[in-house]
Amino acid sequence: MARSVTEWVNVTGGISIIARESGEVWFHTPSGTKNDVDPFATPMTGAGAAGSTVGLLDGAINLGFSGIENRLARPEPTLAGYIVALVGAYHTSVHTPRNLRQAAKRFNELGRPEVAAYLEERAREETGHDRLALKDLRALGVPADRLVANFIPEGIKPLCKRFDDLCVQDYPMGCIGYSYCLERIAALKQEADIEKVQALCPDGVDATRFLRSHSSLGSEVTHVEETIEFVASLSANDRIQVVQETYESALIMADGYNHELLKSEEKVLGEIQQVIGEPLLYGHGSRHSPGEKRAARPAA
Ligand SMILES: [Fe+2]
Ligand SMILES: [Fe+2]
Repeated sequence: MARSVTEWVNVTGGISIIARESGEVWFHTPSGTKNDVDPFATPMTGAGAAGSTVGLLDGAINLGFSGIENRLARPEPTLAGYIVALVGAYHTSVHTPRNLRQAAKRFNELGRPEVAAYLEERAREETGHDRLALKDLRALGVPADRLVANFIPEGIKPLCKRFDDLCVQDYPMGCIGYSYCLERIAALKQEADIEKVQALCPDGVDATRFLRSHSSLGSEVTHVEETIEFVASLSANDRIQVVQETYESALIMADGYNHELLKSEEKVLGEIQQVIGEPLLYGHGSRHSPGEKRAARPAA
């Protein structure tokens, strides 16, 4: 009988993620006692399997986000926060095809055409997603081009930089971990999340094109499934790199959430209005009081 696959990756200091093909996942901290023989102390070398690889990838995201309270991780949306999220979605999408092609070119140079082909396919699929965010902003009466040209939300900047940096590395395997992190989190969004945002929009306005496509209702689910299959087919060293970067990207994303979450709706509105130089047409449609703390939940 074939043995069930177990995979493990050390993601930070003393913490490793261990995942079994059967779906079990746990975090492991070495006990440090001399007499212990720790089977996870050395990097894994075996083949992957989708069931265990997804455990590592999602474990990395959970660990990266563990510093955020559940309440804050799923904030109630506001229109001002949603506009900022759309600007963030634009910035995390606009260079994705270019960046993925850059990484693909490198893998072709390295004699890894299968990785290059995967990244090129992803680049094709992601093309035009920035325009969905622009259309949503325009639908809300926001001067979209002026806003995105002059404003990158603080919480999003480090994420964009991370992806730019990963895609020009000599061995840009980490870009797959980054993409997985963003797509997996997007795919968690349910119809009810979209309905909540839709309820904030003025009657007759459809400003959820980007959100729908980057949710459990859109193409993101397939992207996630395909990525899991692909990552599982990689060598152990490559899987380790992808999982480690999924963790690093989750940390950066969680930091960005925290940053935006600490802003009041008034502050968010102020930031937008300062950039566009005029009052926000629909900015006061929120059902929440202005002093209440809440957030721009990244749309991407
Ligand atoms: Fe996308
Ligand atoms: Fe995607």
